[in-house]
Amino acid sequence: MSLKRRILITGAGSGIGLETALKLSRMGHEVIAGIRNPQKFEKYWKSVGENSAVPFQISKFDVTSPREVKNQIGKLLKQGPIHTLINNAGYGLYGCFEELPDSDFKKQFDTNLFGILNVSRALLPSMRNLENAQIINISSILGRIVLPTGSAYCSSKWAVSGFSRSLRYELEPLGVQVCTVEPGLIRTHFKDNMQVPSQNLQGPYGPFNRMIASEIKEYGAFSTPANRAGEKLAKLVQRKRLPSNYRIGLDAKLVYAATRILPESVLDFAVRIGTKQQFKKASQTTN
Ligand SMILES: NC(=O)c1ccc[n+]([C@@H]2O[C@H](COP(=O)([O-])OP(=O)(O)OC[C@H]3O[C@@H](n4cnc5c(N)ncnc54)[C@H](OP(=O)(O)O)[C@@H]3O)[C@@H](O)[C@H]2O)c1
Repeated sequence: MSLKRRILITGAGSGIGLETALKLSRMGHEVIAGIRNPQKFEKYWKSVGENSAVPFQISKFDVTSPREVKNQIGKLLKQGPIHTLINNAGYGLYGCFEELPDSDFKKQFDTNLFGILNVSRALLPSMRNLENAQIINISSILGRIVLPTGSAYCSSKWAVSGFSRSLRYELEPLGVQVCTVEPGLIRTHFKDNMQVPSQNLQGPYGPFNRMIASEIKEYGAFSTPANRAGEKLAKLVQRKRLPSNYRIGLDAKLVYAATRILPESVLDFAVRIGTKQQFKKASQTTN
């Protein structure tokens, strides 16, 4: 291991965050897992057969609460500097725009975007005084392309990617490296935690809601196991220089390659045709 880092990972109670926390702890780094519900995490830890002690420190906060974030980070900084922040907490809100309540849409941005802003704001003054500080923001390949029924999730992740890429240039002269991570589908609790407010299978958006219902448990052939994603992120932290963007999973890499090679009109055509076909198929199953 090159340099022992003190690393804060938000949303580290499950999935990508937890796997990354485990991997980095085993590499000898000092890891702090930001967890919103430690009781839920304890139960989960036992249910996955982990009888061993949790190998990292837990800090309880919800990223949407600036007050909780500030209090907890204040306490953590009294114990020592934090060299790496991995902004990972997030979830997916899915459904057709007209059927999504405004409050749900706002909550999606509150968590996926403003959560990152809250934690970054609380840590940046101390990070600017360190050498080689890192901020790694978990966006998504859906922060680069979009899919129907993803108006809330995709726009929140486009906002994360835009924020993160701008921050990279602002912070580089001040000694903080910023990297935007764009995972493809990773097999985590993401789909269990997905919010789908409309279950209306009739009406104009019925076929789309049927499509979501049929795909909600599927991760697909090209998806990546969570522990592999954790390994990739842990290796990223070890790098001396962080790339601007980093993709995890074959699907993310293929999508990225397509966006580089194909004209926008061709990509648009492919998504439109694919959507129309799926919509037609789902319409037939409702009748
Ligand atoms: N899985 C994928 O296919 C995929 C693909 C691209 C990007 N991503 C992104 O990767 C990140 C991690 O997701 P995952 O796949 O590992 O899903 P996950 O297993 O559901 O983990 C997400 C974690 O975020 C936490 N979280 C959600 N809202 C929070 C809040 N307000 N405050 C603090 N913690 C909060 C959850 O805590 P609770 O346990 O309390 O709910 C959970 O531990 C997310 O940003 C997601 O958008 C995932």
